[in-house]
Amino acid sequence: MSKEKNILKNLAIIMDGNGRWAKERGLVRTKGHEQGANITRDITQYCAEHETIETVTFYAFSTENWKRPKYEVTFLMKLLDSWLKNELQTYHKFGAKFETVGNIEGFSPKLQETIAYIKKETAHHSNVTQILALNYGSREEIAKAANRLAKRGEEINEESLGTELQTPYIDLDLMIRTSGEQRLSNYLLWQNSYSEFFFTPTLWPDFTPRELEDIIDQYVNRNRRFGGL
Ligand code: FPP
Repeated sequence: MSKEKNILKNLAIIMDGNGRWAKERGLVRTKGHEQGANITRDITQYCAEHETIETVTFYAFSTENWKRPKYEVTFLMKLLDSWLKNELQTYHKFGAKFETVGNIEGFSPKLQETIAYIKKETAHHSNVTQILALNYGSREEIAKAANRLAKRGEEINEESLGTELQTPYIDLDLMIRTSGEQRLSNYLLWQNSYSEFFFTPTLWPDFTPRELEDIIDQYVNRNRRFGGL
């Protein structure tokens, strides 16, 4: 009897290697981020067209990324703002809904406004939800959720904490990190509890829907036991 294949609903990606991609080409690091943003679009389109994928969460800016040189942080903020504005038409085209996880309040009022606008304009789409993790850190997300429960005098257990998180709807199935690094970097620690991990040496700006398809082909045949036999 053939084994049932795993279904992929919730995917998360750590987009790593933009800087190295640019360096290999003698370009400034920011060119790598620009090309990386194009790949984020291609992968979102693939996910929107995929039959079973419901959410794709991309790590776009971590709470630790503020430590980068000021010019790079400023560039990433500007890129995000202009990219989102340009992206509205593609969200409509792909039927993709835009959401975020992380401390948006840490961004400029202008960027916060853009984010709120794109969320509102795409809220009705249902082919896929693209979630950008922005100014995100998983330990902070968990600590804040626990704090809110404590302040309300509610019991802290798996169920209450799980639903109090900013991302309660995500039980991740598959987690991919590009560029050969094999670590989680404070990303969706709770939501990754039972996900399958894939690490590829491909740098994010070279990642393609074709490679994602290959990874998904392997994922559907992996033996997921969730602690059972
Ligand atoms: C890692 O590459 C990538 C990031 C810090 C952020 C990801 C950002 C993008 C893909 C561009 C912006 C995204 C959107 C959606 C507008 P790295 O700089 O750490 O690469 P390196 O490890 O080779 O230096």
